[in-house]
Amino acid sequence: MSENKKTCYVTTPIYYASGNVHIGNSYSTIVCDCFARYNRLKGVDTFYLTGMDEHGLKIEEAAKKQGITPQELVDKVAGETKALWKNLNITNDDFIRTSEKRHSEKVQRIFEKMLANGDIYLGSYEGDYCVSCEAYFTKTQLGEGGTCPDCGKPTRKVKEEAYFLNLKKYSDRLLDFIETHPDFIQPESRKNEVVSFIKSGLEDLCVSRTSFTWGIQVPSNPKHVIYVWIDALSNYITALGYDSEDDAKYQKYWVNGDEVVHVIGKDILRFHAIYWPIMLMALDVPINFKLYVHGWYLMKDGKMSKSRGNMVYPMDVASKYGLDALRYYLISQMPLGNDALFTYDRFFEKFNTNLANDLGNLVSRTISMINKYFLGEVKKPTKDYFSFDKELEDLTEETINKYHEAFSAFRFQNGIISVWELIGRANKYIDETEPWVLAKDPEKRDALNSVMYHLYEVIRNVAMMINPVMPDASSKIATYLNTNIDFSLLGYGKIESNKVVEKCDALFKRLDIEAELKALDAAKEASEVKEVFKDEITIEDFAKLDLRVGEVLEARKLEKSDKLLVLKIKIGNSVRQVVSGISKFYEPSEMVGKHVVVVANLKSAMLRGEKSEGMILAASTDDKLEVIEVKLPSGSKVS
Ligand code: MSP
Repeated sequence: MSENKKTCYVTTPIYYASGNVHIGNSYSTIVCDCFARYNRLKGVDTFYLTGMDEHGLKIEEAAKKQGITPQELVDKVAGETKALWKNLNITNDDFIRTSEKRHSEKVQRIFEKMLANGDIYLGSYEGDYCVSCEAYFTKTQLGEGGTCPDCGKPTRKVKEEAYFLNLKKYSDRLLDFIETHPDFIQPESRKNEVVSFIKSGLEDLCVSRTSFTWGIQVPSNPKHVIYVWIDALSNYITALGYDSEDDAKYQKYWVNGDEVVHVIGKDILRFHAIYWPIMLMALDVPINFKLYVHGWYLMKDGKMSKSRGNMVYPMDVASKYGLDALRYYLISQMPLGNDALFTYDRFFEKFNTNLANDLGNLVSRTISMINKYFLGEVKKPTKDYFSFDKELEDLTEETINKYHEAFSAFRFQNGIISVWELIGRANKYIDETEPWVLAKDPEKRDALNSVMYHLYEVIRNVAMMINPVMPDASSKIATYLNTNIDFSLLGYGKIESNKVVEKCDALFKRLDIEAELKALDAAKEASEVKEVFKDEITIEDFAKLDLRVGEVLEARKLEKSDKLLVLKIKIGNSVRQVVSGISKFYEPSEMVGKHVVVVANLKSAMLRGEKSEGMILAASTDDKLEVIEVKLPSGSKVS
C-alpha cells in the first residue's frame, strides 16, 4: 500500500436477488467492511459499495413461482438484504440495485457505446445455457450429461439472434495488462488460472438475450435484453455516477482514485478478470482496480445448500453468540484464496479459547488488578523493571507493523494471528511478573505500576487493531480504558496516565459447548418436517396401472401456455399424444429421443384444447423437475 494513499474504493459482488444471504456469501460483505473500516481508521477517504444483482431469467422464474412480479420480488429481497447489512454493522456508503434507473440508463448507454464503436456486434447464438449461473457454455466445457460445469445443474439448448462482445480483439492487450500489473489479481494462483484461460483462446461473449424480458433493454433493438453480467459488472462505475452530470465520485474514487478493490469469490473470477477489464478497454475507462479473490466457506459435508439442509444464516449465529464473534470467526479462519470451514464445534472452540479466554480474560484481569492495586490509575513508568518489559514493548511495535502490512494487503488472517500472539504474550507476562506477589511488597509499588501500565498499553493497542474486525468489543475495551479508537495513538507508551473503569462486564461469556451443541441438535430436529405419505394402497390397486416405456418422437410448446409441452410418443407400435406440464424445465428439442415412462391406461382428457392420452412420469422438488428415463425399447413394461 502506498503510504500516501488518499482514497480507497472497495466493492463487494452484488448479490443475486433470488434468495437469502447465508454466512458464506455474507463473508464477502464482512471482509469488505473490515477493509473499509481499517482504511477509514488510517484516515483514508473510503467509499464502500455493495448492492443487488436483480435481473435475469433466474429472478423472472423465481418471481413467477411465487406468483409475484420480478420487481416485487427484488424489492422484497433488497429490503431484507439492506436490513441484514444494518444488523451486521456493515458500513457501506451506498447500496446499488440494478433495477434502479440511475443504473439501468447508464448500462443502456454503456451498451450503445460499445455497439457504436464496433466492439459489440449482432450475430446469432446456439448453445447450452445454465439458468442458475446465467451463463453459456461450450460443448467442451459442459459436465457429464450436459450439466453446468459450475453448479452441476442441467443446461438448456438455446438458439437466438444475439449481440456479441469482441473479446478476441482485446485478448493480447489484457494479457499484457496482467503481466505488467502483478498486483491486479491476487492471490497469484488465481492470476495464473486467468492467464491460462486467456491463452487457451477467448470466444466472443454473447451479451444479449431474447428468451426472457426481465432485464435492461437494448435501446436500439428492444427485443433484446442486455446480458445480466454486462449489466451487473457495470454497477462498479454506475454507482459512482459514471457518464452522468454528477460524476464527482467517479472522478474522485475511480479515475483519480489511489486504490480500487473489487472483492469476489473464486466462482466469479472469469467475469471480473476478463469480461470486466475488456469492457473497460472498450469504453476507454482506466482499469485501475485490483481483484482480491477469496475462497468459499464450506460446511462439514461440503458446499452449503438448501437441498443438503446445511445452510447457516448470519443472524442465526450473530443473534445468539454476538456479531463480533461471527465477524471474528469468518475473518480469522480464511486465508486469502483458500477455502475454509464453518462448523459450530470449531466456532464454539474459537469463541471460548480466543475470545473468552485469551482476549476477554486479559482485559478483565487487567482492569480488576489496576483497580485493586492502584484504585484504577495507571502511570507511565520512568524505567523498565523486568527483562520481559522490553520484550513486550518491542512485540507491541512489531505487531503493529505486521498488522498494517497484513490488513493493507487484505491478509486479515495474518494480521489477526499477529494480534493474538501479542495477546498470548501479554497473558504470559502476567504469569512471569506475578503482580499478586509484587503487591505484597511495598518496595515493589513502582514495578507493580509498570506491569499494570504495560498491560494497559497492550490492551489499548489491541483494542484499536481489532476495531475493523470486532467494532463492538473494540469500543467496549476503549470505554473500559477511558481512551479512544484513534490510529494516531497506535504504539507503545503513547499515554502518560489514565484512569480505567471500576468494573467491566465480560466481553465474551464462556460457552458450555456440549450444551450448545445439544441445543442445536434439538432445534434442528424440531425444524425437520417428517415425511408425509399418501394413504396406503394394495398391490392389486397398483397392478391396475399399465406403465410403459415410450419414445418421444416429436415435441412442441403449447401456444398460450408457459407450462405445457405437446409430445408425440411411440409405445410399441402405437403412437400417442401426451400433454405434459414440463415446459419450464425442458425445451421441446431436449425431449425428442428420450425414452420415458408413460401411464398408458390413463383415461384421455382435453388439456387447453389438445387431447392427452397418457401421462409421463417425472421426479420433482420445489424448483427442479426431471422426467424418468430408461434405456429399454419403447413398449417395455414397467412395474
Ligand atoms: N450476482 C453475482 C455477482 C455479480 S458481481 C458484478 C453473484 N452473486 S451471488 O449472490 O451468487 O454471490 C455473491 C458472492 O458470494 C460471490 O463472490 C460468491 O463467490 C460468494 N459466495 C457464495 N457462496 C459462498 C461461500 N460459501 N463462501 C464464501 N463466499 C461465497 O455471483
